[in-house]
Amino acid sequence: MPLPPPTLLITGGAGFIGSHVVRLFVTKYPGYRIVNLDALTYAGNLENLRDVEKAPNYFFEKINILEPDALQRIFEYYKPDGVIHLAAESHVDRSILSPLDFVYTNVIGTVNLLQAARHSWKDKMEGKRFYHISTDEVYGALGETGFFTETTRYDPHSPYSASKAASDHFVRAYHDTYGLPVVISNCSNNYGPNHFPEKLIPLFINNIITRKPLPVYGDGLYTRDWLFVKDHATAIDRVYHSGKNGETYNIGGFNEWKNIDLVKLLCKLVDEKRGNAPGTSEPLITFVKDRPGHDRRYAIDATKIHKELGWSPSVTFEEGLSLTIDWYLQNTEWLQHVTSGAYLRYYEEQYRDRG
Ligand code: NAD
Ligand code: DAU
Repeated sequence: MPLPPPTLLITGGAGFIGSHVVRLFVTKYPGYRIVNLDALTYAGNLENLRDVEKAPNYFFEKINILEPDALQRIFEYYKPDGVIHLAAESHVDRSILSPLDFVYTNVIGTVNLLQAARHSWKDKMEGKRFYHISTDEVYGALGETGFFTETTRYDPHSPYSASKAASDHFVRAYHDTYGLPVVISNCSNNYGPNHFPEKLIPLFINNIITRKPLPVYGDGLYTRDWLFVKDHATAIDRVYHSGKNGETYNIGGFNEWKNIDLVKLLCKLVDEKRGNAPGTSEPLITFVKDRPGHDRRYAIDATKIHKELGWSPSVTFEEGLSLTIDWYLQNTEWLQHVTSGAYLRYYEEQYRDRG
């Protein structure tokens, strides 16, 4: 009898990173069944997956990870061999406004998923894999020098990073206590097509296009380490297939930028691409009240994934940013859809009192 096709459950597949991961797996592995499980919150958008939605190996289930019965049904029906867990509340500023939403989805939702996998795989854990996607923010903030490694002590400062840190601890606890075959990766800031325009790069590209102020928090000297989203997806592929159970892999691009320098670069590139005179958009930069608990600097040491799994980023920042800006200039309908309705109410609340 032929073996059933390997089945992979990807949570949060309608979001920014998840949609790139789903596309990569659906197209690269036609022999796998790829099940995208997503609640379609404000950040989940099936338009992100138009090009693969009719593929015979792609399945979509609109399910909330806060519903254990629904998760159990999905595990019984599809019998997944692996899980790549990306579903989360992901925006730091929203976590400051509504911390409990982050506890529910990121902590309780993750534990619900761990439970479903543990019960479904209880008779045979061999060959199974629970891959949890986490963030470098769990490590806290760096000073002027140094990098986050896989052994850096956890020190989260925002409700978002605290909820991701808690979920990482639960994933490791399920490995140590129940023998669940888990792997975790902690990645730096992603950018690229389909990024929801509440995060720095897509928000500022959108505001430059629509001639709105560019709200730089604090002194603008905060530093982030940027990675093109498709490179994160290839790293996830590598970790899913070749990572070792119980291990953690840091993913990053060795690509640090101070926010203010990045914002000036965005202004320059968008002006060039739209044929504006040099310096047209920089006057939109507006320094506003800082984010509470704002981490000064993130920087990932990605040596382990490079040495052990042979992964490196494929595009330079210049190439990735250029591709990203082109995508936003060409996909104005996508931008209009995601910036209407509920998102506009969030935007007013978030920036109203920042001066
Ligand atoms: P996103 O906000 O764009 O997408 C999140 C997805 O999860 C959405 O499709 C949403 O509908 C879904 N979702 C949210 N709550 C859910 C629930 N209760 N049940 C089912 N689905 C739900 O997020 P993203 O930026 O693509 O991040 C994906 C993952 O990667 C997250 O776990 C995040 O912590 C992690 N991460 C993100 C970055 C980054 O720079 N964006 C970097 C490192 C790690
Ligand atoms: O490091 C990985 C993390 O990167 C992910 O885990 C998160 O899901 C993701 O949202 C991102 O978190 P950040 O807080 O670093 O990203 P954000 O785009 O919100 O902000 C990047 C920097 O820009 C940060 O220093 C805050 C600043 N900023 C952000 C916004 C939205 C501004 O100055 N103005 C803004 O309007």
